[in-house]
Amino acid sequence: MEFGFLTSLLSFLLLCRVAKSATFPDGVHHTECYDRYFMIAVDHSFTGQHFYFEAVDGTDIYPITEQYAALCGYMVTFLPAAGRVELRASYFSCHTNNDNDQIFSFKFNLIVKNGEDSLYALNETCSPSLPWSPREVTCEVNYLEVSVQSDVTCPFAPKPNGWDPSLEMVYRSAAPGWQVAFITEGKAMTPMTLNDARLNGYIFNMTENRLVMRAPYGLSHSFSTMSDGISLEVVHAVLFSRNDWLVFLVDLVAACTKNDVLNDYNGYIISETPTALYPGLQMTNFSFGLNGELWESSMTAEMGYALNVTDSRVKIGIPFNAEGTYRRSVVLDDLYDLYTCHFALEQMSALDGGLETRVRTLRMLSSPLIKRSLFTENRTVPAEQMFTVYLGNVPDDVELASIKLADREFKAPFVNSSLYTLVIDSQDNAQAWTLKVPFASPFVSKRFSIENEATENKLDIMFTVMVRLQQELYSYHTTVTAFTSVAPPEFDTICSESGIIFKLDHKPSDFLWAFTVGLDMLTPELAAKRGYVLNNDPKMLQLDVPLFTQGYVYENITLKGFSGTFEILVRDHNTFNLKASSVKTCQFTAKEVVACSRDGRMTVKVDLTLATQNGGTPNTTTLVEETCGPKEADSTGALFSFPLNSCLTRVKLIQDYLTYENEIFLSLNSTTISSSILVQCRYHLAGLHLLFSRYKFESDTPGIGNIVHPYTPGLPVTATNPTTRPPRPTKRSRGLTRASKSNGNHLGYKNPLNYMSLTKRYNNFQERI
Ligand SMILES: *[C@@H]1O[C@H](CO)[C@@H](O)[C@H](O)[C@H]1NC(C)=O
Ligand SMILES: *[C@@H]1O[C@H](CO)[C@@H](O)[C@H](O)[C@H]1NC(C)=O
Ligand SMILES: *[C@@H]1O[C@H](CO)[C@@H](O)[C@H](O)[C@H]1NC(C)=O
Ligand SMILES: *[C@@H]1O[C@H](CO)[C@@H](O)[C@H](O)[C@H]1NC(C)=O
Ligand SMILES: *[C@@H]1O[C@H](CO)[C@@H](O)[C@H](O)[C@H]1NC(C)=O
Ligand SMILES: *[C@@H]1O[C@H](CO)[C@@H](O)[C@H](O)[C@H]1NC(C)=O
Ligand SMILES: *[C@@H]1O[C@H](CO)[C@@H](O)[C@H](O)[C@H]1NC(C)=O
Ligand SMILES: *[C@@H]1O[C@H](CO)[C@@H](O)[C@H](O)[C@H]1NC(C)=O
Ligand SMILES: *[C@@H]1O[C@H](CO)[C@@H](O)[C@H](O)[C@H]1NC(C)=O
Repeated sequence: MEFGFLTSLLSFLLLCRVAKSATFPDGVHHTECYDRYFMIAVDHSFTGQHFYFEAVDGTDIYPITEQYAALCGYMVTFLPAAGRVELRASYFSCHTNNDNDQIFSFKFNLIVKNGEDSLYALNETCSPSLPWSPREVTCEVNYLEVSVQSDVTCPFAPKPNGWDPSLEMVYRSAAPGWQVAFITEGKAMTPMTLNDARLNGYIFNMTENRLVMRAPYGLSHSFSTMSDGISLEVVHAVLFSRNDWLVFLVDLVAACTKNDVLNDYNGYIISETPTALYPGLQMTNFSFGLNGELWESSMTAEMGYALNVTDSRVKIGIPFNAEGTYRRSVVLDDLYDLYTCHFALEQMSALDGGLETRVRTLRMLSSPLIKRSLFTENRTVPAEQMFTVYLGNVPDDVELASIKLADREFKAPFVNSSLYTLVIDSQDNAQAWTLKVPFASPFVSKRFSIENEATENKLDIMFTVMVRLQQELYSYHTTVTAFTSVAPPEFDTICSESGIIFKLDHKPSDFLWAFTVGLDMLTPELAAKRGYVLNNDPKMLQLDVPLFTQGYVYENITLKGFSGTFEILVRDHNTFNLKASSVKTCQFTAKEVVACSRDGRMTVKVDLTLATQNGGTPNTTTLVEETCGPKEADSTGALFSFPLNSCLTRVKLIQDYLTYENEIFLSLNSTTISSSILVQCRYHLAGLHLLFSRYKFESDTPGIGNIVHPYTPGLPVTATNPTTRPPRPTKRSRGLTRASKSNGNHLGYKNPLNYMSLTKRYNNFQERI
């Protein structure tokens, strides 16, 4: 996947090569002489996507293509998670200056194509301290290489008995000059010259002390085999040369494990190798490590590595989070973690003759794709009136590309606003995002939930992340809900000439509420009793409250007009607690109005057009106490406003009501009163508890006013609606003189007997009001 070469680019670049020499900036590259190879690492951010290496040999340059690398002992690899590009060169690679197998000199160019090409030249000399073993096998990622000490290759004298038939054949066909015969699956193929072998992809070379063979994997003269279930690639070549009666034979065998896909992982990246890479080879010792290092196997247990060594195989488990491993995110159908490591294994073996073989295996090992589960946590605090959604376990190599709230997509960069806020929190190897979206946001859908008796707020969120290395998008969807209490309904109100109209569109949540006028439930019965007009259909509730029906509060009464206020209370249907109210005040005009305030004041406007027909003027009218005149008067009426404990107001207890009454007298002349109008305020006893506990007039509700005219003492007074009662056009003088009404003794304001006799509860209160 990521170990590729940029072959196409390379072939393009080869056509025209005008590179400018440059020197490496500080810190972008690093070279290292390892035991068996030389390594150059360059930051990928420096090389970019378009680069290649060249091997320099004297004055010639050799671009290292994928094919050429496998042939000549080079390996170029890109480690995306580590962010670097690596070139490894075998000490026996084609263009390395080898001084007695002790000192190796390398020269390379790195060509970076970045607008114009830049060439970075590099040279290094390595003297590996580890002495060469008689036989060395290197299993690189892209090739295998075997080298043997020249003096091991002793001439074979007379043909011993029991030779391998394939060697027999080689022996017989040996001709002067070196030739090679490949042996696949026990059969020797037709010998060829070393040049022919090179045309077939095999390189043979003789150094000062060693004989080297190298081959890319998968050539036709190589073969695959299985050892204990692990598949191996084997190259078996017999080099020979006949000189007179002597035949030199060199048996070169290299076997390497192939990269297998391993599916049992359990938190480990697995490497499995047979202990005997080919028959006759007995493993005596092994060590392994990451990134070019090798550790004694005894050290690795405490480093968390898992080892299982049997007679036939070595199984090594590298923990995903071991130092030196890399993790990266991968998007396929889902989001995954991929752990990789640059693994090295050394196996020491003793051949029958006691000669040592060192096998080094270098592999880029990967774990299987491991599903990365992002998770959301609902951290909503309903009182904050917003969603708080926490998205955790986000890998550190992705960035948030967009957030989709319902249908609206917000792309990075994100800006806090009233629509949402986003807080990004980076932790070790992970990040977490906290998104807050107010319930009031247009992306939050709302629905009334009958079972919860609450509004369900619901928000669909889609987080889309971009995996940086892969430039692929992954989306994570979540839905959060939160319940909030339903807001009490509000009536629409309209003032009409004759009253106030309250309207309410029905909602599914209406059953949560009880509507009351004061403490009385608003029912069809109540409406009928009080003269309200109630229309309740499935779509809408409408209540028409005619002026002067019970429940109105009148204020600011003047002769010109007054305000009438009516209130519908919204209560919780279970607890009856007050939740809201719809209050409406309208300006009205009426010929007559009487207001009985909660603090015990009567304000009354009376119409005197009939009463003054026989004489007298409204501005001379008085209450029972003649000093109590009108507050205002005009040609048609008079306005009185007085506390209920003044102006000789009488008080009576009738049924459950305390009734205060006074009279308005119209004088014809200084001695004669032509007519009187009775004005009343009734208060329900239940609302007057303060009157009896603190001797303070305060009613829970305003009183009910009444105007009766003309009034005849002695006749029963019925509480009727003054607007519906047609005034009787009777003209009658009561003949009551001012002298007699002012003696303070007539209708009992100062005489408590009227009611004291009725109940003891009212003791004393009369004196106080
Ligand atoms: C063979 O080895 C010699 C000496 O080490 C070296 O100069 C030459 O380039 C090598 N040839 C190949 C094809 O590797
Ligand atoms: C190796 O590189 C250094 C600079 O890094 C340079 O001075 C030196 O001449 C080079 N040697 C060869 C043999 O090119
Ligand atoms: C294994 O090899 C190392 C060197 O690679 C050596 O130090 C150690 O003694 C060896 N252990 C055994 C048991 O051979
Ligand atoms: C080692 O692996 C073998 C076969 O794979 C298994 O039977 C054995 O239990 C393993 N040993 C340990 C210690 O895990
Ligand atoms: C949003 O505001 C919070 C503080 O309330 C801050 O920590 C965060 O960085 C801001 N996010 C962005 C995207 O500006
Ligand atoms: C989210 O949290 C809120 C408040 O704690 C809670 O009311 C709501 O049911 C939760 N929603 C989900 C989907 O868990
Ligand atoms: C009554 O009049 C006063 C003073 O003009 C005013 O502040 C108040 O709002 C009025 N009340 C009503 C119910 O109209
Ligand atoms: C009463 O009103 C009449 C006319 O309506 C006026 O002539 C008279 O002066 C007024 N009296 C007082 C005391 O205002
Ligand atoms: C007052 O008017 C009445 C009835 O009209 C009349 O009988 C009486 O004599 C008048 N008194 C005075 C002092 O004018």
